[in-house]
Amino acid sequence: MLTPSRFDTLSLFAATPPGLEAVTAAELERLGVSGAKVVSGGVVFFGDLATLYRINLWCRTAQRVLVRLDAFFAVHLAKLHKKLQQIPWEYYVNPNLPVTVRATCRKSRIYHSVAAAERGALAIQKRLGLDETPVYGEGAPRQSDAGTTVVLRLERDHCMVSLDSSGEHLHRRGYRIYRHEAPLRENLAAAVLFSLGFDGKCNFWDPMCGSGTLPIEAAMIAANIPPGLNRTFAFMHWPVFDGDVWRALLDEANRSRRVSDVLIGGSDKQASAVRMSREHAEAAGVAQWTSFQRTPVHELTVPTQSGVMASNPPYGKRIGDRRKLCGVYHQLGEIAIRHLDGWQLGILTTDSFLVEATGLDMRPVGPLFPNGGIRVRLYSTVT
Ligand SMILES: C[S@@+](CC[C@H](N)C(=O)[O-])C[C@H]1O[C@@H](n2cnc3c(N)ncnc32)[C@H](O)[C@@H]1O
Repeated sequence: MLTPSRFDTLSLFAATPPGLEAVTAAELERLGVSGAKVVSGGVVFFGDLATLYRINLWCRTAQRVLVRLDAFFAVHLAKLHKKLQQIPWEYYVNPNLPVTVRATCRKSRIYHSVAAAERGALAIQKRLGLDETPVYGEGAPRQSDAGTTVVLRLERDHCMVSLDSSGEHLHRRGYRIYRHEAPLRENLAAAVLFSLGFDGKCNFWDPMCGSGTLPIEAAMIAANIPPGLNRTFAFMHWPVFDGDVWRALLDEANRSRRVSDVLIGGSDKQASAVRMSREHAEAAGVAQWTSFQRTPVHELTVPTQSGVMASNPPYGKRIGDRRKLCGVYHQLGEIAIRHLDGWQLGILTTDSFLVEATGLDMRPVGPLFPNGGIRVRLYSTVT
């Protein structure tokens, strides 16, 4: 059972898109977490409150960070309710903010997820003396940063009780003001960059940059700006929140900023995309380190010798759409052959058919993972 001292070791879980667990585990190690363990859907690790805050602030690839408050066996609802009521919710749940309890049941004698979530909601209500029962259900809406989401996961009669410390999904850095067609989630963009070995110390270009997500994430890595600097988190509203620890982390982040001296930017055939990218870079605080230009792929020239070039070009859902798109993949391949020497080239797309159109010997990097409901994969080669 979790006790609320700032020095206690907490059991933590960084949820990731399926397929990106290993990328997040490697990132956590780079952030100083030792013994991170990959499991399906995320990474289990241990740390104190400062670690919890730090990973929320710095982790670029995870979706959210959960605190595992308790775990126990429960084969009937009365036991579940009793155990849930023993959790010291008063340390984590702000009674003035909305609360949601979600539950899933798998291979358990408690098989009714709504009933399980209801027991959680009633236990919290009773323990805290709330006037209203928290919202509950299997798919009950998650709370934003200004609220609490409790997750009960029953598997083989074993109940894991977790608390969402992030609130809004961690991909929401706060810089994306406009919505471009098929934007790449910020945490997926960061995962693409890390998978290609980008560490912020070499040039980066996205030749089909859309709203600028890949170059902006690259610039934030290069300048060592934490992805969570301009947002709030659910843990900030917990009664146990330690503002001194948080302020120390922000001070440290501000001190550890670097001046980026590499070329980072992108191009797109649409003027609107270029405008959006510039505004997003401004909002992210990386405008001075990025450049965006309106250039169709076949006219692209990149003025430096080497670096990482990555993009998620358009990909059609149907075969017919994909055939039409082969042209742009072919153009990208031509540019790589004619102009790029020693660049690491990455393409995030739906299938090998489109990759083959580049004419390059591109190999898959890592497994398939979901992007906007479509399964995509990163392919890479060195030019
Ligand atoms: C899937 S979107 C990229 C989304 C981007 N990663 C983001 O996060 O916003 C594909 C982009 O490719 C651009 N594009 C398509 N064909 C192009 C071409 N021939 N030259 C340059 N850009 C092109 C589109 O204008 C679109 O912005």
